[in-house]
Amino acid sequence: MAPAKSSPRRQAGYLHGYSSTEQDRLRRQARVLEPMVHDRLPFWRRRRIVEIGSGVGAQTEILLRRFPELAVTCVERSPHQLADAKRYLASVPWAKGRFTLAEEDALRLSFERESFDGAFLCWILEHVPDPARVLTEARRVLIPGAPIVANEVLNATFFLDPYSPNTLRYWMAFNDHQLEIGGDPFIGAKLGNLLQAAGFHDIRTEVKTFHYDNRSPGERAEFLAYWTDLLLSGAPGLLEAKRVKKAEVLAMKDELDRVGRDPNSVFFYSFIQAHALA
Ligand SMILES: C[S@@+](CC[C@H](N)C(=O)[O-])C[C@H]1O[C@@H](n2cnc3c(N)ncnc32)[C@H](O)[C@@H]1O
Repeated sequence: MAPAKSSPRRQAGYLHGYSSTEQDRLRRQARVLEPMVHDRLPFWRRRRIVEIGSGVGAQTEILLRRFPELAVTCVERSPHQLADAKRYLASVPWAKGRFTLAEEDALRLSFERESFDGAFLCWILEHVPDPARVLTEARRVLIPGAPIVANEVLNATFFLDPYSPNTLRYWMAFNDHQLEIGGDPFIGAKLGNLLQAAGFHDIRTEVKTFHYDNRSPGERAEFLAYWTDLLLSGAPGLLEAKRVKKAEVLAMKDELDRVGRDPNSVFFYSFIQAHALA
């Protein structure tokens, strides 16, 4: 089904929802993806960065752990996420006094020009109706020359072996639904264009690939468990929107179990990490 037309000013729906199961999933996800997402970030000697779409503080904890001189301002529009982030970061010793939580819409930041010396975005642009506007806002609040890092999905890259048609059909429904509610599951491929249009320079995009097979069975199993959680996190919304039937969700679960038991299974997925300067 073709995606519905969405006005740029429309607030996009949020595919994953805000349940406590989903909030825990975001923290597990951040830990599983940490080696790829946080490898060689350009935030050394930075003092105050803005994290846009900070969710439950999962990435904030990692940023504060890896960059001990940094303070992070977390921008998040959901009060549920912010309340959970507050609870979580209060339990993280190295976060004490080093973060600020701001209930803000990334499309209209309240901060003055040149308020920050770095920006970090992770899995947010895929959920907003006007990602160009978010990046323009990010540039406005950065000092000239400050680095921005954006991590984004490229859902066309997902592949599983043994061939899993129910899972791929569910994945199509997941992506169609995200498009319909105003997001973009393929936005990773567009980060170069978007950053350029927002006036950033020295733009570099890196394809980050998870390719798990018999060379790393432990990581493959861990990743498949994470991916199964990710797929199922969309199920309530997809069932409610009548994009999938319960039987199809069960058929996908059976396939994923089968992939997990197969001694020769293969998992492949790529996302894009973009670096640029304001
Ligand atoms: C998939 S979560 C990722 C959270 C975090 N970056 C992480 O990696 O764990 C996306 C977050 O972006 C937030 N979000 C979506 N649209 C937003 C907007 N317009 N302004 C601020 N936050 C937004 C959602 O509420 C959600 O918490």
